[in-house]
Amino acid sequence: MHIPVLQKEVLKYLAPKANQNFIDCTTGEGGHSLAILEKIAPHGKVLGIDWNLEIIKIPKYKILNTKYEKRSILICDNFANLKKIVKKCNFKKVQGILFDLGISSWHLEESGRGFSFLRNEPLDMRYNVKSKILTAEEIVNDYPEKKLEKILREYGEERFAKKIAKEIIKNRKIRKIETTFQLVEIIKKAVPAWYRYPRTRTSSVRDRKKIPRRHFATKTFQALRIVVNDELNNFKKALPQTLEILEPQGRLVIISFHSLEDRISKNFLRDNSRKGLLKILTKKLIKPSKEEILINPRSRSAKLRAAKKT
Ligand SMILES: C[S@@+](CC[C@H](N)C(=O)[O-])C[C@H]1O[C@@H](n2cnc3c(N)ncnc32)[C@H](O)[C@@H]1O
Repeated sequence: MHIPVLQKEVLKYLAPKANQNFIDCTTGEGGHSLAILEKIAPHGKVLGIDWNLEIIKIPKYKILNTKYEKRSILICDNFANLKKIVKKCNFKKVQGILFDLGISSWHLEESGRGFSFLRNEPLDMRYNVKSKILTAEEIVNDYPEKKLEKILREYGEERFAKKIAKEIIKNRKIRKIETTFQLVEIIKKAVPAWYRYPRTRTSSVRDRKKIPRRHFATKTFQALRIVVNDELNNFKKALPQTLEILEPQGRLVIISFHSLEDRISKNFLRDNSRKGLLKILTKKLIKPSKEEILINPRSRSAKLRAAKKT
């Protein structure tokens, strides 16, 4: 089950009140949406959006025959189409919009689509299998070496991007790369031994400086997922639409997990606060507490920013 990240902080900055309407652009398993629904009772509504066909069934099932059912609209679509979705649903008087970017536990544990390097699955990584977008398999087998290297460096911030891209090219000449475990083996061959073993509590202080915190395949998998789903562009397209949808004093809350996503949020909030369209509510970046990270390690790289429409 997905544990919603920074839930207390999301509610603090969205500040939902009785009978207000909210949009959850990444409703996922519905954790944040349900918490908002509770606060906006008895008549407030949530429009929940998720691009993933299967995942949106989870909140649908959770609210079935409950007091929330009539106050929720759940739509499977890309949040890049935010204005169109809002218009189609005739959803009005929006007091707050939430983005909780990235993937949910369902993607890693149940999708069977190759999001996790810990499971042997086909290299797909599409959020929406009906959309006509490239799969991770097509990228690793068809992209030229330089392009692969650029992707790994830019979206994965992978220091061994060049070596991994080279190893991918070498291996795909012998055999098509079709599964996550094939890719993990290739990355393993490309990176130095010390990079293969994540830091532990018992690593010496000297070692800790050098040894990565994460599994050696994390960054490559992240980079491929971002490219497959064109994540940064979708987010860039959605953000300006929020300004047209929000009511005055309406809140925008963004949780990001990647430095490039956070840069997009930061720049959007800063530029629009300079234009006098937004007032930034989080002068300092909000991060999960040590306690939250302990309970939910996946929250460790979350960053929350919030603003209010002026
Ligand atoms: C971190 S999860 C959200 C978890 C959710 N807040 C919860 O509490 O259960 C992010 C979700 O965003 C969805 N997503 C990613 N890109 C999207 C896009 N462009 N449009 C709509 N949903 C998207 C993913 O399918 C995923 O379910």
